[in-house]
Amino acid sequence: MTKQRVFVTRKLPDEVLLPLRELFDCRLYPEADRPVPRERLLEEVATADGVLSMLTEVIDAQLLASAPSLKVVSNMAVGYDNIDLQAARARGVIVCNTPDVLTETTADLTFALLLAAARKVVESADFIRQGAWHSWAPFLLAGQDVHHKTLGLVGLGRIGSAVARRAQGFGMRILYTSRQRHEEAEATLSAVYTTLPELLAESDFVCILTPYTPQTHHLIGERELQWMKPSAVLVNTARGSVVDEQALYQALRDRAIWGAGLDVFEREPVSADNPLLSLPNVVALPHIGSATVDTRMAMARQAADNLTEALLGRSPRYRVV
Ligand code: DGY
Repeated sequence: MTKQRVFVTRKLPDEVLLPLRELFDCRLYPEADRPVPRERLLEEVATADGVLSMLTEVIDAQLLASAPSLKVVSNMAVGYDNIDLQAARARGVIVCNTPDVLTETTADLTFALLLAAARKVVESADFIRQGAWHSWAPFLLAGQDVHHKTLGLVGLGRIGSAVARRAQGFGMRILYTSRQRHEEAEATLSAVYTTLPELLAESDFVCILTPYTPQTHHLIGERELQWMKPSAVLVNTARGSVVDEQALYQALRDRAIWGAGLDVFEREPVSADNPLLSLPNVVALPHIGSATVDTRMAMARQAADNLTEALLGRSPRYRVV
């Protein structure tokens, strides 16, 4: 019997690839650090039954139309804004993602960014390396307290709740806004539901943890940034386009808000001349929220399992469509 054909869009560890190779005619884009060029992706999907994709691949209507045998797209990410769900649904293509396995790791990084931006960790590390430290000084590199401050969570899903649990350890007051109320989380995390304007006006730290959709595009823009306190810090570990980056740059430059910790950007990868990178009150990271060895392995395994289950006609554990 001819094996079903699978295309894996990045080099992944053998531990993940070997089981796929046993079951399927498995083709691989051999680079680990560079995305597959669009032309090559289109060529590969033309004969593929399944694709194991990264968030860097745009799986749009054009691609789906050029993949007549495609049955499943298994994204190695919790987010799936790179995939046109409507087009996939219309063609009967299953879409899977990898939530749960990255929740705690991404919450750790979110909190690391919050602390780093609040306490000028990166600016201070650069300062000492540059030999600029001449004396202890009363307000040298003075930051903002985190403990007992107010944390505003824009989104209280899995990762938002995990960030809230960390905040409890810092004695923080927790506000959240979300499409729906999470009564259990309100009880267990003492999280208080509020509107976005109120959350922005009251919070010392605002964490963006909502998926990117047409409804959340530029959810935080010039007007919303003006609602924030001048001492507030914005942290984004969700998707860059939830925040209007141009407006954020202006707010940070003009000190309308105090700082930002950013793991995600409107256009990734960010080029070195992105104006945000020139600001001392920005801590910028290259989309590493879930990047620990254990978690990335778990995500790769989960993506491979989802793909396998779908192609074998069983129910994948994490199916979006
Ligand atoms: C995701 O999974 O969507 C993250 O952005 C990358 O881990």
